[in-house]
Amino acid sequence: MDYEEVKFQKEDGVAVVTLHRPEVLNALNSRVFQRLREIFEALAYDGEVKVVVLTGAGDKAFAAGADIAELERLSPLEAREFALTAYRAQETIANLSRPTIAAINGYALGGGCELAMCCDLRIAATTAKLGQPEIGLGIIPGGGGTQRLARLIGVARAKELVFTGKVISATEALAMGLVNQVVPPEELMPTVMKLARDLAAKSGPALALAKRAIDQGCNLGLPAGLHYEIECFANCFATADHQEGIRAFLEKRRPHFQDR
Ligand code: COA
Repeated sequence: MDYEEVKFQKEDGVAVVTLHRPEVLNALNSRVFQRLREIFEALAYDGEVKVVVLTGAGDKAFAAGADIAELERLSPLEAREFALTAYRAQETIANLSRPTIAAINGYALGGGCELAMCCDLRIAATTAKLGQPEIGLGIIPGGGGTQRLARLIGVARAKELVFTGKVISATEALAMGLVNQVVPPEELMPTVMKLARDLAAKSGPALALAKRAIDQGCNLGLPAGLHYEIECFANCFATADHQEGIRAFLEKRRPHFQDR
């Protein structure tokens, strides 16, 4: 699962997936999206991995967007196929039943911002820049930039970013809720890996149920969402981990979850 364009490594329950086209600021072409899909599909069956970190190679970019050189040649039908290839990869990432963290180490523009939004959490370096600059190319976002962005930061702010194409700083992104945390560049990977390891020590089934309850619930009305949450909550009581967690609390010790 270690490819030229997308690198993969795993250690202590945490997988790190790295976009690896630094010469073009990790621009996302069809091959990168296919690789991402392959990697995240395999991760769904990898019992050793509890948390996945997605980042970009080098210190300039997470990903500076869809590969504009590839976009140049596309007919409308091919553009649709390109967007669907991206969509399939993005859905595989977004639907992974483990927590995912985007470590935004530089530019996260266009498809790069959209990819980061497929992750559950986003931690950015102070040097990161985010935005949906597609309008400047005479096109619009085609990988969730009009959809996930609006759900994440609200319709008005999403329209502002998509209409103007302006590129914002990590601090501005934090104020909008587009990223969870901003840290100096040298602290980015240590911070992300610490968070990943902290999450990896929690109950895997509980994390999966929490993720599903939030993600599915957001697509439902509040009454249905609250009932969906009740079902997810009740499912926790089928796990050995819930017994361990509650017993550990009562015995005043740290829980040792076994992900079952
Ligand atoms: N697709 C393809 N190639 C890209 C790219 C993209 N989205 N973004 C950057 N590159 C390439 C550049 O063409 C350049 O290649 P070259 O060295 O062969 O000329 C290389 O990456 C370095 O980029 P460069 O523009 O020289 O770096 P910079 O620091 O001056 O500017 C950006 C950085 C991110 C501001 C600028 O590259 C940019 O605006 N990229 C496009 C962003 C965008 O519109 N994304 C949405 C696409 S739908």
